[in-house]
Amino acid sequence: MKVLVVGSGGREHALVWKISKSNAVSRIYCAPGNGGIGAIAGCVDIAADDIEGLLSFAKKERIDFTVVGPEAPLVSGIVDVFENEGLNVFGPVSQGAMLEGSKVFSKNFMKKHGIPTAGFEIFSNPDEARDYIRGKKSPLVVKADGLAAGKGVFVCSCAAEAEEAVDIIMNKGVFGAAGRKIVVEECLEGEEASILAFCDGNTIVPMDSSQDHKRVFDGDKGPNTGGMGAYSPAPVVTGDMMKTIEEKILQRTVRGLRKEGIRYKGVIYAGIMVTDKGPMVLEYNVRFGDPETQPLLVRMKTDLLEVVKAISEGELDKIKLEWDERAAVCVVMASGGYPGRYNKGFEIKGLERAGNIKDVFVFHAGTKEKGGSIMTSGGRVLGVTALGDNIGKAVETVYGAVGMIKFDGAFFRKDIGHKALAK
Ligand code: AMP
Ligand code: GLY
Repeated sequence: MKVLVVGSGGREHALVWKISKSNAVSRIYCAPGNGGIGAIAGCVDIAADDIEGLLSFAKKERIDFTVVGPEAPLVSGIVDVFENEGLNVFGPVSQGAMLEGSKVFSKNFMKKHGIPTAGFEIFSNPDEARDYIRGKKSPLVVKADGLAAGKGVFVCSCAAEAEEAVDIIMNKGVFGAAGRKIVVEECLEGEEASILAFCDGNTIVPMDSSQDHKRVFDGDKGPNTGGMGAYSPAPVVTGDMMKTIEEKILQRTVRGLRKEGIRYKGVIYAGIMVTDKGPMVLEYNVRFGDPETQPLLVRMKTDLLEVVKAISEGELDKIKLEWDERAAVCVVMASGGYPGRYNKGFEIKGLERAGNIKDVFVFHAGTKEKGGSIMTSGGRVLGVTALGDNIGKAVETVYGAVGMIKFDGAFFRKDIGHKALAK
């Protein structure tokens, strides 16, 4: 089978790597891919949001399955377009992608279908939002409705901060149309975890738990990023907790989608806060997480292409996922300055040495191949991932590998997995 993976990050490198191990695959392409993906797949220079370009490539090459990594093309309707042309594609239709594309839609959806989430109010008028905030106890969380590359969420410790967030989103309009509406919600306390699940519209099959590290600096300090590291499994999600999440969150989500008449195929990702009242949903994503996918896929023993095929045929109930019992940890190496401004075009050294260590996988994100060398080309540059008998062992191995890789301005968090180690 010929497979096309859409995207260019560490998640996509992990997807391409995993799919390349399938017995059923004959050729893999990635659009647009990156410097690491080029070594194991054909990279084609089509942007991830160029739906027409991707469609004509998939038709010309007779691609059997297209697997979509990032959210933007899903929200824009890549699945609707491909399916109209009779092509197999892994991901939800645009209406389903609204679970990530609109916080207003997803909060209303959760309320309607009894899925535990923080209490909230929706505003399209900044003055009304400010009045509401003044009458509420802090802390509060203010969220832009639409896609904002993970930057549209403000956790505010006092009313003045929350009012400023309203100003940034609605008056200054820094997220454009994504900030026409906002959600103001209660701030939840607890530990976060990511639960990703496969879904074919009827059956939902959860993957093992994982946890990412959104803040840029050690000790969860500094601004939010796309994710500075992740590990799997997450000890905060015990067996009982997973059962509760399946019943109260995942099953209700699929039933809700069916009731709304939304055919949902692909991955549903619930960002969860484990509170003392039980697990609650912070947000949905409609795709694999980045960087959670890196530790998850090195642990997944099941053939991913088999799962993709089963979902396409509505036969996910026949799939039982198998996992490596070991733990996996991914440390993101980033360009100095990220998530703000940073320079790129620096040569990366030590990749081969690090990649040769047993149980180490060096997934590329913002890299480019140039004349036989690998150069930095983005904020998140690499997702160095390792397996170990437990999180502690995986942490040791992964940081050993990270220490061998050098580029100008490189930085990374030194405490990935520490919360799990503390348990
Ligand atoms: P989101 O994009 O909605 O996941 O929000 C990004 C991050 O903001 C989450 O991973 C949490 O750390 C934080 N966050 C979002 N909503 C809440 C909430 N209601 N209470 C506490 N923290 C939140
Ligand atoms: N790791 C969070 C995300 O993929 O959105």
